[in-house]
Amino acid sequence: MIGDSTMSAHPAPRRKAGGAPEHIVITGASGGLGRALAEAYAVPGRLLSLAGRDAPRLEQAAAACMSRGAEVSTRIIDVTNADAMEEWLSARDAARPVDLLVSSTGIGGDQVVPGPSGETGEQANRIFAINTLGAVNAVTPLLPSMVVRGKGHIVLIGSVSGLIGMPQSPAYCASKSAVHIYGDSLRRLVRQRGVGVTVVMPGFIDTPMSRSLDMPRPFCWSAEKAARRIVRDVARGARRSIFPWPLRFVIGLQNYAPVAATDWVMQLTTRGWQNAADR
Ligand SMILES: NC(=O)c1ccc[n+]([C@@H]2O[C@H](COP(=O)([O-])OP(=O)(O)OC[C@H]3O[C@@H](n4cnc5c(N)ncnc54)[C@H](OP(=O)(O)O)[C@@H]3O)[C@@H](O)[C@H]2O)c1
Repeated sequence: MIGDSTMSAHPAPRRKAGGAPEHIVITGASGGLGRALAEAYAVPGRLLSLAGRDAPRLEQAAAACMSRGAEVSTRIIDVTNADAMEEWLSARDAARPVDLLVSSTGIGGDQVVPGPSGETGEQANRIFAINTLGAVNAVTPLLPSMVVRGKGHIVLIGSVSGLIGMPQSPAYCASKSAVHIYGDSLRRLVRQRGVGVTVVMPGFIDTPMSRSLDMPRPFCWSAEKAARRIVRDVARGARRSIFPWPLRFVIGLQNYAPVAATDWVMQLTTRGWQNAADR
């Protein structure tokens, strides 16, 4: 882990009008959606604290945000390191109160595809450690201060995969499902205390993660389009942001169908993938 570096392209006025967040923390900012969100939120006068593991890509994201006038602080950190996350996020909150936390960290794509008998123990543990506990490690250091201030918003990036169990990624689906339930539960806990929680459940987004998959990506959105949608939904205080609507609709049908019917549809639609996995 290397130390914080804070850079600014323009002198920053301290306050923004209209209750817009002044200090935003984004984890997973070196990657596709996290970086697109960082750029979408980058405006003069705003402080962005960006985290990732890949230093060159994180610095590229920081430079893109600074060119839009934002003040940027970066940190190389592994979200599975709870102590380091606590130390980093407490320091960022002390530097300027964090208004908005976006947890966009995750592993997916070809890193979460199981063998014919499921994931190895090591693979499954890694998926939950990064996708689920990584999100928890981002929330727990900041939420108490937000509650005390009676102000703040948390955005957890889940996935439509967390709405339906898919044979291509059992642990990934479960790790995202846990994120959804965590986010919904937190919102019900802290909403009366002035803190909002938006759970985001995207379909395919055109990032290195989804590009690594050897399968069709129906209704795939660009990272920029997904980021615009999330920014809009968060600004209006949405409890959930689920897109695109055709996937939301199709997956939602399972709530009204017998489990056996969903099993059958899944079997049918993933037969090609299952045959390839068996070879
Ligand atoms: N792409 C899709 O189709 C899709 C669909 C639904 C949901 N999502 C979710 O959207 C989020 C962003 O995914 P993406 O598509 O933008 O993927 P991506 O391009 O692979 O980016 C993933 C980000 O997570 C970071 N990361 C991974 N493991 C980490 C760890 N242990 N500690 C710290 N950072 C770590 C990566 O950092 P480094 O690269 O620096 O290691 C990178 O910044 C994920 O939660 C993903 O599950 C994606």
